Amino acid sequence: MTGQSRIDELRARESLALSGGGEARIARQHAMGKLTARERLDLLLDPESFQELDMLVVTKTDDSGSTQYVGDGVVSGFGRVDGRVVYVFAQDFTVHGGSLSFANAKKIVKVMKLAMKIGAPIIALNDSGGARIQEGVKSLAGYADIFLLNTLASGVIPQISAIMGPCAGGAVYSPALTDFIIMVQDTSYMFVTGPDVIRTVTHEEVTKEALGGARTHNETSGVAQFSVKDDRACLALIRELLSFIPSNNLDDAPRKPNSDPVDRANDVIAKVIPSNPNQPYDMKKIIADLVDDGYFLEVQSMFGRSLVVGFARLDGRSVGIVANQPAFLAGVLDIDSSTKGARFVRFCDAFNIPLITLEDVPGFLPGTKQEFGGIIRHGAKLLYAFSEATVPKLTVITRKAYGGAYCVMASKHLRTDINFAYPTAEIAVMGSEGAVNIIHKKKIQEAEDGDDMRRKLTEEYRAKFASPFVAAEQGFIDEVIDPRDTRRRLIQALVMLEHKRESLPPKKHGNMPL
Ligand code: HXC
Repeated sequence: MTGQSRIDELRARESLALSGGGEARIARQHAMGKLTARERLDLLLDPESFQELDMLVVTKTDDSGSTQYVGDGVVSGFGRVDGRVVYVFAQDFTVHGGSLSFANAKKIVKVMKLAMKIGAPIIALNDSGGARIQEGVKSLAGYADIFLLNTLASGVIPQISAIMGPCAGGAVYSPALTDFIIMVQDTSYMFVTGPDVIRTVTHEEVTKEALGGARTHNETSGVAQFSVKDDRACLALIRELLSFIPSNNLDDAPRKPNSDPVDRANDVIAKVIPSNPNQPYDMKKIIADLVDDGYFLEVQSMFGRSLVVGFARLDGRSVGIVANQPAFLAGVLDIDSSTKGARFVRFCDAFNIPLITLEDVPGFLPGTKQEFGGIIRHGAKLLYAFSEATVPKLTVITRKAYGGAYCVMASKHLRTDINFAYPTAEIAVMGSEGAVNIIHKKKIQEAEDGDDMRRKLTEEYRAKFASPFVAAEQGFIDEVIDPRDTRRRLIQALVMLEHKRESLPPKKHGNMPL
């Protein structure tokens, strides 16, 4: 065979790989509102940066063993996002429904191992009918190999999963082990068992969308962190998310040039926080006033909404924000908001992203639903995550900091580096009215005008105990600050903490209350 004929053969094989499952299936993919694996990678990566690996892998997959798809249903390799190296794999639904064969899994495992070795993020574009049915246990072995690597890579390199089509059965556990799941509305779904099995086993009737669509997993189950309207929005969001996070656990996040003055006064904050402690306000307005150019990328915006988490920048440095949201359930901590917060705090801690906590919390949500659901166990996750975190930690108490929630929300006692409070902050075991009703019960009952007495005692209590000054006298608050100075003070503290070193006692790993 001549050199030229080998080159011709190579071109022929490449051309087969590039054509995926063929024109008809590509047209069907487009008709479903989905892009192909290669079109997705084109949009995700910087132009001309994609270097494909294992393009020529094949498996014989039909019963006669004659049908071969070059590339075998997954496109994998590396490329760049904003100039930084990332590893990628995109399942090709046009080849056997993107199902996972052993050869296909080996391609995925290869890029995951390279990503870990090099210290670069791994991005998975999922669109698959699950295990390649014709392959039986070999396919299951392929999945298990991927799950192991997802686990080993956790906390070493960022892992992002986009769900851009079906993702069912055990296949869901690879995305579930990664840091972020983004779901495309209307075209993606995730479930362990589908509607047909559910009908047989539990006699429930449910659609695929209601069972595992983007809305369900963003709003109800908390499995996903983002919901986007289409493939393009999904790929743009991955690029944006990557801009806030480092390539691995040893690097810092990229710093962005900043033109927003570091000493810009926060005039909005004082106007937003009402003087009446029982009135709600939107914490996102405070976040917007504090961060560079008012830009905040919220994570899990539809789940556990009494806590807001997400990424922003302060003088170009990436920070993770964890903030109670008084506009939703008065900013209370419940099961969903605690687990959401804990997961986010642990991500930031694993990847060297400083944490800014904005606190206005009346306590944990009371009720049998929360107690039976295990608020003790789930609330402990947030406490554990903040305690364990060794990244720079800054807290600002904007208004209420009551009870156990005061301790949990990155209080000084959990090794938080700098704790600020506004002059109007209330730090106490509980709300003033509740406290007075307990400690002055007799006095109120015996008074001629009980309501008047309660009001008077509440005022006295608030002035004496529910202020930031008692905590500041103890050193639990480092400084009581003017809200207008918040941005400047936070940036100053971040600069001071730039080379912070803190560690945990040597151990194999802790036993987080899961
Ligand atoms: C092999 C598959 C496949 C699979 C789909 N195809 N799923 N081939 N193994 N798992 C093929 C189809 O035969 C078809 O081939 C093409 O992909 C497109 O599939 P359609 O059914 O025509 O597409 P659509 O109507 O859009 O339906 C998509 C689907 C459906 C909902 C994903 O294909 C489906 O239900 N597939 C089976 C899902 C499943 O049960 N998977 C195994 C789950 S168990 P042609 O040649 O006609 O284009 C599992 C265990 C994992 O995954 C365990 C890990 C630990």
